Amino acid sequence: MHSLPTLTTPRLKLVPWREEDLDALHQLWVDPAVRRYLLDDRAISRDEARTFLVEALEVAKATGVTQWTIRRLAAPDELIGFAGLRWLDAAARQPELMYGLDPRWWGQGLATEAALAVIDDAFTRLGFQTVWASTDAPNRDSVRVMERLGMTPSECPWADPKLVVYRVDRGGPQ
Ligand SMILES: CC(C)(COP(=O)(O)OP(=O)(O)OC[C@H]1O[C@@H](n2cnc3c(N)ncnc32)[C@H](O)[C@@H]1OP(=O)(O)O)[C@@H](O)C(=O)NCCC(=O)NCCS
Repeated sequence: MHSLPTLTTPRLKLVPWREEDLDALHQLWVDPAVRRYLLDDRAISRDEARTFLVEALEVAKATGVTQWTIRRLAAPDELIGFAGLRWLDAAARQPELMYGLDPRWWGQGLATEAALAVIDDAFTRLGFQTVWASTDAPNRDSVRVMERLGMTPSECPWADPKLVVYRVDRGGPQ
């Protein structure tokens, strides 16, 4: 069983997902602006959200590949978003970065700040050589996050070919 770290950034505290985050995560995921590209605009049920959360918790326990809730240092009780990794391809051990913020907190660099901490953890604690991120091409806000993170567009054999894929490599571009 992997022990999962809480990550701290200048403005944020990232806490590994817990079962008790279900309602706040579900509320975030059904927000029309958040679900638009993340969930193909589908308002998932609480049961679906629970399945997604429980599966992620199992992966985290078994492999250390985890998602975090994003909280402000100034008000850590309030969940304002999530960021973390999931398997893009578990057999090939290729991780994919995910993130989403409550729209009230967009436009302040908070998603980028959280994702930088996730990528640093992916390279240092988990020892990955590459972190991937993908999105629908029209999701310009997400592509801008990838660019701010220093990620670059890339071919990716494990990703859905319909998606725009970016990568960042440990130690910089190869
Ligand atoms: C993708 C998403 C997280 C981006 O949120 P965001 O707030 O635009 O991204 P950032 O946190 O990087 O903030 C960047 C913005 O803050 C501004 N900003 C303000 N202060 C800043 C600071 N101190 N540092 C960096 N940027 C700052 C930047 O100029 C930028 O604004 P711009 O896009 O108008 O140029 C958000 O749109 C979202 O939750 N979307 C729904 C979920 C989703 O689609 N996720 C991606 C699929 S995995």
